[in-house]
Amino acid sequence: MAEREPSRVTRHGGPVVVLTGASSGIGASLALAWARRGARIVLSGRNEVALARVARQVTGAGGQAFVEAGDVTDDAHRVALVARAEREGGRIDVLVNNAGKGYYGAVEEVQLGELEALFALNVFAPFRLAQLSLGPLAHAKGTVVMMSSVAGVVAAPRMGAYAASKFALEAMSMALRAEVAARGIRVLVIRPGPVDTPFRDHAVSSTRRDGVSESGVRPPGATVQTPDAVAEMTVAAVARRRSVVETSLFVRVASLSARVAPAALRAISARMATRSKH
Ligand SMILES: NC(=O)c1ccc[n+]([C@@H]2O[C@H](COP(=O)([O-])OP(=O)(O)OC[C@H]3O[C@@H](n4cnc5c(N)ncnc54)[C@H](OP(=O)(O)O)[C@@H]3O)[C@@H](O)[C@H]2O)c1
Repeated sequence: MAEREPSRVTRHGGPVVVLTGASSGIGASLALAWARRGARIVLSGRNEVALARVARQVTGAGGQAFVEAGDVTDDAHRVALVARAEREGGRIDVLVNNAGKGYYGAVEEVQLGELEALFALNVFAPFRLAQLSLGPLAHAKGTVVMMSSVAGVVAAPRMGAYAASKFALEAMSMALRAEVAARGIRVLVIRPGPVDTPFRDHAVSSTRRDGVSESGVRPPGATVQTPDAVAEMTVAAVARRRSVVETSLFVRVASLSARVAPAALRAISARMATRSKH
């Protein structure tokens, strides 16, 4: 689908944004946050009905929306996203690799096929979209945003598969940031903790040996943020040319502990693993 939404607002001098996972949660909030700044946004996701609703909200908030429905694990869709942004905006100011999903299950229970599918979405899709976008991003001296997670720096029990995908995203982002800096392109990594979205409902859950569907454990002390709060922090961080944003105190403490007190973190993790089994 490549249909142009009508716009009631004419101030579209804002950035040209390619946004994956725009149909739900943090992505839908990001679309609105950029719309309020007059952005022209290429919206990606599989759910056409949800994308059309977000597109209407973007238009109402002062932005311009271009819906490109598709599966971001499909290379033809990724090529179409970049082409649409170049056609409508002539450049890409911001590529937001936000589409992703969770996986709840002990390492012992992880299914290889499901792990491959998870990496296709959480790692290979952002990697490939970044590759495809570097030309138009260099033209605009733009920013690649990678939606990582606290799971990109700490692997909690029963989150090994998901954390592995976010660790991989972090590694790629770190290397890419250094490689493209000379071309004026920035790479921004966002690390949220728990956010109030349908993420848990959309996650893959393994079935434990006792027949119960795994749902993961919420770490102790984790506050839940709104997707709007994470979106506002992300948009502000692009403007301030930041490299990494940890969106809550919980994430900052977890991330610091991983570096300066790994033994304490291992002890907490072991207790969480025991708790999650009963
Ligand atoms: N919520 C949290 O607690 C949390 C915490 C840390 C990090 N994050 C990260 O934040 C990002 C957004 O998550 P969320 O919480 O907003 O979850 P969400 O509400 O489930 O949104 C996920 C988005 O990804 C899209 N998506 C999933 N599979 C896709 C595919 N194959 N092709 C194209 N689009 C696809 C979905 O759109 P369609 O279904 O329309 O395809 C949807 O728009 C993810 O990368 C997640 O890992 C979330």
